Amino acid sequence: MEKNIVKHSYTVDKISQSKLKKHQSVLLWFTGLSGSGKSTIANRVEQILHEKGIHTYALDGDNVRKGLNNDLSFSPEDRTENIRRIAETANLMIDAGLVVLAAFVSPYRKDRENIRNIVGSENMIEIYINTSVEECERRDVKGLYKKARTGEIKNMTGISAPYEAPSHPEIEVKTEELNVDEATEQIINFLYPKLNHQHE
Ligand code: ADX
Repeated sequence: MEKNIVKHSYTVDKISQSKLKKHQSVLLWFTGLSGSGKSTIANRVEQILHEKGIHTYALDGDNVRKGLNNDLSFSPEDRTENIRRIAETANLMIDAGLVVLAAFVSPYRKDRENIRNIVGSENMIEIYINTSVEECERRDVKGLYKKARTGEIKNMTGISAPYEAPSHPEIEVKTEELNVDEATEQIINFLYPKLNHQHE
């Protein structure tokens, strides 16, 4: 903590927020290559949670890089800073009692470990959206892999920049074996009992 900054504790704390919302808060961190299906699956998971009456918020790489992080590139240092800021943002949202869904490539293991340090390991569910680079390149939804091959984009994860796959994610989704509904079900089945949802 910075010198001369003293933390102030507010009476309406995380516990009060959870009581009001009638469920626990948690961070679902989706990691995987660009085009692996992170946002698609996170979107569907959020929809299901919302229908059940869970308070959610989704943070997404492409959106956050247009606002909060529009000063950051795809260099290793900037990706680290990107993930750090998102983790701090997610931490505030966890404090506010929300289920946060964060979909970011987050290619470096040390950056993902840092998320755990920021939010607390007990608050983080790491979800590895495992889609091979061959499949992502075949789909090439945004045309980025093509641009990476021609050299128009430098530092493209999976092509000219590394992706360090998680070794012990809480959930691994193999998208080449499951469709979106099945992947969503896999995540909801793991997550929902942990939320301790007190519904009428
Ligand atoms: S991260 O590596 O810092 O976690 P983030 O999730 O915020 O990345 O942003 C990734 C998104 O930016 C991708 O989905 C893709 O649309 C776009 N993008 C643009 N350039 C690159 C690149 N060089 N590597 C990966 N993604 C890129």
